[in-house]
Amino acid sequence: MEWGMANRMAQLIQRDGRCLFLPVDHGYFQGPTRKLEEPRKTIEPLLPYADALFITRGVLRSSVDPDNTKPIILRVSGGASMVGKDLANEGLTTSMEEAIRLNVSAVGLSIFVGTDYERESLLNLAKLVDEGERYGIPVMAVTAVGKELEKRGARYLALCCRIAAELGARVVKTYWCEDFDRVTGGCPVPVVMAGGPQVDTELEVFEFVYDGIQKGAIGVNLGRNIWQNDFPVAMIRAIRAIIHENASPKEAQELYDSIKNE
Ligand code: 5RP
Repeated sequence: MEWGMANRMAQLIQRDGRCLFLPVDHGYFQGPTRKLEEPRKTIEPLLPYADALFITRGVLRSSVDPDNTKPIILRVSGGASMVGKDLANEGLTTSMEEAIRLNVSAVGLSIFVGTDYERESLLNLAKLVDEGERYGIPVMAVTAVGKELEKRGARYLALCCRIAAELGARVVKTYWCEDFDRVTGGCPVPVVMAGGPQVDTELEVFEFVYDGIQKGAIGVNLGRNIWQNDFPVAMIRAIRAIIHENASPKEAQELYDSIKNE
C-alpha cells in the first residue's frame, strides 16, 4: 500500500485495529432527520469521542470548523430522497478533486445490490475506487437497503460486502445481523457496522455492537442509535468502551447509566 493510502487508513483505523465512525450524513436523502436538524449542535459534543465523521460536503462546510482535526469520510453519493421514486437511484455527487480540496481521509458511497440500480451503483463504486487509488484516498462502500430494512440477513449482506470488497472498497459498512461471522468471514477487507433506525433500548445496541466485534467487525459507523438517544454523549462513550476497551454489554450499560446521571 502506498504511503498516502496507508496514512489515511491509519487515521481511520486506530492502533488497536478498531474504529468508531460517527455518521451524520442522513440529511442527504432524509432531510432534517430527528435530532440532526441543526448538525453543528449534534456533532460538537460527540466529536471528541469519534474516530472519524461520515458527512456530506455541505454539512462539513457549514457545521464543522476547518480547524477540526478529526478524520473526515466524505459521503459522495446521492441524488435520491425519501419522497422520490427510488432510494436506490443514486449517482456520484462530489468529485475526487473536491474530496482532495476538503482534505478528507476517505470517501464513501452506497451500493444497492439486488435493486434496479444495482449495476449503476456498483459501477459508481468501481469508478470511485479507480479515482481514489490514483490519489491515495480509501473508499468506504455502504451496503444500503433503502426502505427495505427486512433485507438485513446474513446471506444478503455477505453477498453485498463481498461484492464491495471485490470491486476495491478498502472498508465496507453494513448492518449487523444474526450469524454476523458469515458476513465478515466472506469479506477480505475490514467491516464496520451501521445501526439503522433507533432501537428500543440501549442494551440492544450494546449487545449487537459487542456481538459484531466478537464476530470480526472492526468497529461501527453508527449514527441514529447514538445521536437520537436522550443521552448521546453517554451512548457514544459506552459504545467506545466496547470497541476500544473490550467492555461487555453489561459494562457498557453501567458506564452509560453513570455518565447519564452525571
Ligand atoms: C445513511 C448512512 C449512514 O451513514 C448509516 O446508515 C449509519 O447510520 P445509522 O447507524 O443511523 O444507520 O449511510 O445513508
